[in-house]
Amino acid sequence: MSDILEAEPEVNGLTQVKPTLPSNWYFDPAQYHRELRNIWYRNWIYLCRSETLDAPLAFRTFEIGDQNVLLVRDENGALNAFHNTCRHRGAVLKTEPSGRLQARAITCPYHAWTYKLTGELARMPSKLCAPDFSKADHGLYKIALAEWNGFVFINLDENAGPFDAAPDRDDSAPVDNWPLADLRVGHSVRKLLACNWKVFWENYNECLHCAHAHPELSDIVPIYSRGLLSQRDDPNWRAQGDTTDPKLKGGLKIGAETWSMDGRALPYTFPKLTEAERAAGQTYFTKLPSMYMVAHIDYVRIVHMRPLGPEQTELTAEWLFPAETLNDPAFDLPKAVEFADLVMRQDVALCELNQKGLHSLRHRTGTLMPEEYLVHKLHNWVRSQLDES
Ligand code: FES
Ligand SMILES: [Fe+2]
Repeated sequence: MSDILEAEPEVNGLTQVKPTLPSNWYFDPAQYHRELRNIWYRNWIYLCRSETLDAPLAFRTFEIGDQNVLLVRDENGALNAFHNTCRHRGAVLKTEPSGRLQARAITCPYHAWTYKLTGELARMPSKLCAPDFSKADHGLYKIALAEWNGFVFINLDENAGPFDAAPDRDDSAPVDNWPLADLRVGHSVRKLLACNWKVFWENYNECLHCAHAHPELSDIVPIYSRGLLSQRDDPNWRAQGDTTDPKLKGGLKIGAETWSMDGRALPYTFPKLTEAERAAGQTYFTKLPSMYMVAHIDYVRIVHMRPLGPEQTELTAEWLFPAETLNDPAFDLPKAVEFADLVMRQDVALCELNQKGLHSLRHRTGTLMPEEYLVHKLHNWVRSQLDES
């Protein structure tokens, strides 16, 4: 449900019938590998919040497609990302999802080649060494890494350009007034979804399903109950004049302040938001292909995904709060997260339902409705990424 990607057209909405992507793009192994190669192994991918590696020697591992990434905080406090692969004969170095190294070194469990936390090969147990063997040529395979406002991104492309030069780097403005770097992860949920990664993104990019699938969300964001994301999705929006009715204009229902069961915000709200940002109720920021965030006046939720197979996707949601909230003895965490958690569970069920039906021998492609203009935009993005020329 992103309204960020669209520049201000007169009216949103598709004016022609557009097909979806071919159904087999959602389960065909060859297509899946094509997308890994062209999308997931070329773009900047969100991994985690920097604070989750809280001290030197902390490490985490991540799977993206068939690649395994090792993220380590070195003795100087810097983060380094490597392929989780030993340079000797290719064994995986760390198998745990997270932990703390016992020493200032990474030692391969197979033949004990040992690397510095910055990746250089430090020693091997061999008694013999060929004269032309060079330690300097056998450091860990380094992965490009960037930290942005406490978010850790990597790029598996060996020739990745700088993060700041990525084509989508100029779109941070929607969340510039949120103190993202200072926020802390208060809660996270991880799920394995039985669907292709694109199915979840499609669900995020439309609200046609909202009225019946998200009654609670449609109550708090009334325009969603009409299957619309914003006022200009309605061809008759001009006739609505300066309406303040949230069912037409968008934003939260009268009296609501945030996404929560009762619509009330937490006591501490972000001080630098504009009036418009406070009134909007939710601000979206999207970074394809791995993450989006929904920023409210009192908390921010990150949703990120990584493909694990043609029909398996790892989905993680992280709720970020300011320290003032987390330190408040009266803070009720389960209450603060239950609304968005419910919405996400509703979406996950739909995505898995969607995936199952795509296997029909007869369903070679689907058809988009005008309200699904952002799904069409997403499909065009996928197609453009797959251009291998
Ligand atoms: S494979 Fe790692 S030391 Fe042999
Ligand atoms: Fe949804």
